[in-house]
Amino acid sequence: MLSVSGIRKAFGGVQALDNAVLRCDPGEIVGLIGPNGAGKSTLVNVVTGVLRPDAGTVVLGGRDLTGTGPGAICSAGIARTYQNLRVFHSLTVMQNVEVAHSRCRQLTPDRAARVSASALLKTFGLERHANALAGELSYGSQRRLEMARAMATVPQILLLDEPAAGLNDEETDQLGEVIRLVATQMGAGIVVIDHDLKFINDICRHLFVMDQGRPIAEGTPERVWKDPRVIEVYVGPGTETGTGDQRDTVQGV
Ligand SMILES: Nc1ncnc2c1ncn2[C@@H]1O[C@H](COP(=O)(O)OP(=O)(O)O)[C@@H](O)[C@H]1O
Ligand SMILES: [Mg+2]
Repeated sequence: MLSVSGIRKAFGGVQALDNAVLRCDPGEIVGLIGPNGAGKSTLVNVVTGVLRPDAGTVVLGGRDLTGTGPGAICSAGIARTYQNLRVFHSLTVMQNVEVAHSRCRQLTPDRAARVSASALLKTFGLERHANALAGELSYGSQRRLEMARAMATVPQILLLDEPAAGLNDEETDQLGEVIRLVATQMGAGIVVIDHDLKFINDICRHLFVMDQGRPIAEGTPERVWKDPRVIEVYVGPGTETGTGDQRDTVQGV
């Protein structure tokens, strides 16, 4: 469904993306992980049309979207959240969702009809806060509101950039449940970026691992966490001695 390949993007002398790849099918939850500076957010920016890649292709359902702008990409069915929260504090929770719903201008009537703002608030556990100002919500609820807003554009693919950042354990578990619900009930393919590897391992059935702009491994969590390159990136070099222990450390994060 979403197929991203050979993406290159440089900022001045920094090669932020070097043949980066990503794939996601409807209803599937995949993880995109790697250390700080690996290029994860830049890849999301390329996929969502915020940045134009120097090379490579972004294809959704057979349609080449490479180089088209954020509006066209949203209309084509790709939505996202940002690493830093971007909810409108002075609008109510309901208004935040409605604005997103109407902002995707070319939303066809049948696509728009498939989701109502109040149904979204229910899915994301925000029903009772519908008339509260978004700025008054807890941080965890604001994170869920941001996802509800993204889903208001009725995407086929949703990209979440560090959705669990700053959440406590209970909020992170709740978020995981909501993400599963969005994948199973709404059928969206979801790409999750996060540093909380337990969270990632719990909800993703396929991981893409990046380092310094390059893909270094992909596959099921079980397979990826046994990959020596991934262990080196996450645990550091010199893991030849006592490799078994190191693996346990990584798997058990
Ligand atoms: N707008 C930008 N201008 C210059 N360099 C950037 C810009 N955005 C990202 N970078 C650089 O690109 C690399 C990848 O960054 P980023 O995609 O934010 O990584 P990640 O999200 O994996 O932490 C880093 O070296 C970062 O400093
Ligand atoms: Mg980032």
